[in-house]
Amino acid sequence: MTEQIRTRVAIVGAGPAGLALSALLHRSGIDSIVIDPRTREDIERTIKAGILEQSSVELLRSLGGSRVDEVGARHDGIELRWNGVGHRIDFQGLVGRSVWLYPQHEALIDLIALRLGEGGDVRFGVGATSVEGVDTDAPVVHAAGPDGRPIEIRADVVVGADGSRSLVREAVTGSQTGGYFREYPFAWFGILCEAPPSSPELIYSTTERGFALISQRSATVQRMYLQCDPELDPDAMGEREIWDELQARTGGGLHEGPIFQRDVLRFRSFVAHELRRGRALLVGDAAHTVPPTGAKGMNLALADVVLLHRAIEELVRSGSEHGLDAYPEAASRRIWKAEHFSWWMTSMLHTAPGANDFDERRRLGELEMVATSRHGAAYLAEAYTGWPFETRPRG
Ligand code: DHB
Repeated sequence: MTEQIRTRVAIVGAGPAGLALSALLHRSGIDSIVIDPRTREDIERTIKAGILEQSSVELLRSLGGSRVDEVGARHDGIELRWNGVGHRIDFQGLVGRSVWLYPQHEALIDLIALRLGEGGDVRFGVGATSVEGVDTDAPVVHAAGPDGRPIEIRADVVVGADGSRSLVREAVTGSQTGGYFREYPFAWFGILCEAPPSSPELIYSTTERGFALISQRSATVQRMYLQCDPELDPDAMGEREIWDELQARTGGGLHEGPIFQRDVLRFRSFVAHELRRGRALLVGDAAHTVPPTGAKGMNLALADVVLLHRAIEELVRSGSEHGLDAYPEAASRRIWKAEHFSWWMTSMLHTAPGANDFDERRRLGELEMVATSRHGAAYLAEAYTGWPFETRPRG
């Protein structure tokens, strides 16, 4: 027996984009369902990036139930370091904005509790299998429950918030891959370790040996990354070797401790050729991915849903598709700025395999220019702390 569900908005994916959109729609009195093939525990435990822009924090606070002010930490700057010498970028002094270190899985714990607490329909272990009728005003999502039982969701709008391997993207662009794409010849090897913080703010450090990022999680747990080969086996390096490399790439002085988690993050830039087809729209990683440098991913996802929320509200209130029509162009303006910023930070901070002496000296010249010029530093600070969210698609 197929379970039949009727709702206004079928949201595929219970990541930050899908959950935040369902919370915003609820505040406008608009029903939605969120489905995700993963379990709640999987979603709440997966380690992702940790930086929230100021507008992201304001959005999460406004939704309610966010622990960002208790568990998160405000950061008013970062340190850029090359050849062992640090230069602070003072966000508050330059642009009057800050970022918050608040790991994505903590934000997800908050959003899931919020939605379930207010009676939201969030279904874990439910994976979409196909999307039909996106060119009509009654699209359908076919899905399968944890026991394989078929589910059919009829909605006014289908939102693909289903990550970089999005199924909804196929219904929108006609293919799994259709997009603007760039790969990078390096990756990050990430670790979590038990140690006190080595610095009050993040350190983005580059040397001839490659890049390292010193980030934090709490008073007792730290997150650090090393530039590495994309094919690196995360278990191939011994703990001593990892610490020696981190110390060498930062000029030393890091507090060491047991490493209890390791992963390799691929670097990709991607923007889908289309963000909308009829009544199906893409948000977050389903629409675009960025390399991790600068931690724009979750922030961009939240900026998308703030725009899309208004567009859906307009459709439900007045029947007008004007907002849906405007969404792709409005979202793209921010997406391409963030794509540029993530690419730029990445290229400025990483040694590309095959780079010659000229390339390396030019790169250090760029860092010198950015860090020692008020205008250069403000350019970085403005993008890193994030542009204010647009709430209405400018047509
Ligand atoms: C983190 C990740 C990033 O990509 C970044 O630029 C800063 C911090 C993190 O996981 O803490």
